[in-house]
Amino acid sequence: MTTRTLLVTSSILGENGQSIALANHFKAQADACDGIVVTLRDVVANALPHLAVEELGAWQTPAEERSDDQKALAAYSEELLAELRGNDVLVIAVPMYNLGIPSQLKAWFDRVLRAGETFRYTENGPQGLVEGKRAIILAARGGQYAGTEFDSQTPHLKTMLGLMGITDVNVVYAEGLNMGEQQRTAALKEAFQAIDQLVEGL
Ligand SMILES: Cc1cc2nc3c(=O)[nH]c(=O)nc-3n(C[C@H](O)[C@H](O)[C@H](O)COP(=O)(O)O)c2cc1C
Repeated sequence: MTTRTLLVTSSILGENGQSIALANHFKAQADACDGIVVTLRDVVANALPHLAVEELGAWQTPAEERSDDQKALAAYSEELLAELRGNDVLVIAVPMYNLGIPSQLKAWFDRVLRAGETFRYTENGPQGLVEGKRAIILAARGGQYAGTEFDSQTPHLKTMLGLMGITDVNVVYAEGLNMGEQQRTAALKEAFQAIDQLVEGL
């Protein structure tokens, strides 16, 4: 059986960043396994515009009635939804920027978190429509926040994933990356080991 994995990267520093080290380690481990196929989605290199009313309008217009501009706008979300649905595991390599996620990653979530597509509103609240998927978050941070009240990033990510119905979420932290070489090396080593274990379980 093949496990299809979508690896989303979101650092503004690209290959010079630290979250990419986590993503690259994940990919190397996954590529070494039979049966894991990894698809890459760099949301910075292929940055999406901020979500705006024209795009919402395109979503709300029946496909056969869309103008050429609306077709182009709707295509952003359609492509990303198809990619999400076509994979079994979603891996998100995410740097912490100003206590949150990169705005490019938020723009990605704005295209896949869609009422009527990945969740729906019911009398009992929202219901996720994405079934049978799990997620892994690879979190790179200059400081140390995991498990503290200052970490609003991980809860935000889990809540967005949960809205779609993705509730099986593992988080790998590499923290304190800007707190000296010793801490950085130790944090990356620990994160790589955690990634190895997760890949084994895929
Ligand atoms: C614009 C910017 C904002 C940052 N804000 C935070 C922050 O709020 N908390 C933190 O722990 N680290 C912060 N950092 C440090 C990054 O989280 C850290 O360098 C991490 O490795 C970035 O991942 P990247 O190298 O893949 O981009 C920030 C870095 C940048 C460039």
